[in-house]
Amino acid sequence: MNPVAGADQKLTVAQPYLIQQNWEAYTPEQHSVWAELVRRRMPQLLEHAAQEYLDGFHQIGLREDIIPNLADVNRRLKPRTGWNATPVSGFLPPDAFFEMLGARQFPTTTYIRSRESMEYTPEPDIFHDVFGHVPMHAHPVFADFLQHYGRVSASLMHDKEKLEKMGRLFWFTVEFGVIRQNGKIKLYGSGLISSHGEGTHVIEGRPEIRDFNLEQVLEQKFLVSEEQKVLYAVESFEQIFEAAQEAERRLA
Ligand SMILES: [Fe+2]
Repeated sequence: MNPVAGADQKLTVAQPYLIQQNWEAYTPEQHSVWAELVRRRMPQLLEHAAQEYLDGFHQIGLREDIIPNLADVNRRLKPRTGWNATPVSGFLPPDAFFEMLGARQFPTTTYIRSRESMEYTPEPDIFHDVFGHVPMHAHPVFADFLQHYGRVSASLMHDKEKLEKMGRLFWFTVEFGVIRQNGKIKLYGSGLISSHGEGTHVIEGRPEIRDFNLEQVLEQKFLVSEEQKVLYAVESFEQIFEAAQEAERRLA
């Protein structure tokens, strides 16, 4: 696949949600919340995150001490895989979300949580979106997978049941995905990367880890508000790209 296919595609449905990141407006307190969040996650991630996540973190120039300027992130990310971290105003409706993924634009909130809610925010924030998600977009196979996922999902907008199945594929890969590397379970899903509680839950061996199986994933219900009981481990990122293709064959 052409790595930059769709990168400059004009957005239509998502257009009303696009904003600018006013980076200069972040306060020292907000930068220090970012720094504290990163410093709390890093020791665990250096040992337990997928190598591709850690590589991506450096490739896109994330720093421990300041909130990322998305323009700087994109200057490094876009030449690699054609992806952009694109600032948006908050939660997107599904059609706008899938349109953006199909165009290699990851909807990224710019708000950062307050010190009072370090562990959990009901709304996604820049820590979840950029620290959690965006480093994986520097990986070419993951990058292709995520765009393909968006395109397939966009084509299923008319069918609620099929869309729900695609939502499960997203949940057990992009949000709560784990991968086996050198005989160990490593984290790559943003929900695990960005949450100390969820990451620790997995490292302590509490969820049942099954081999990734698309058929099961498409049927596997989950609860957003509880720690995960079942996760699916892939052997390689090619496996999730193939899963998105297989989902397309089955559902689209
Ligand atoms: Fe997320």
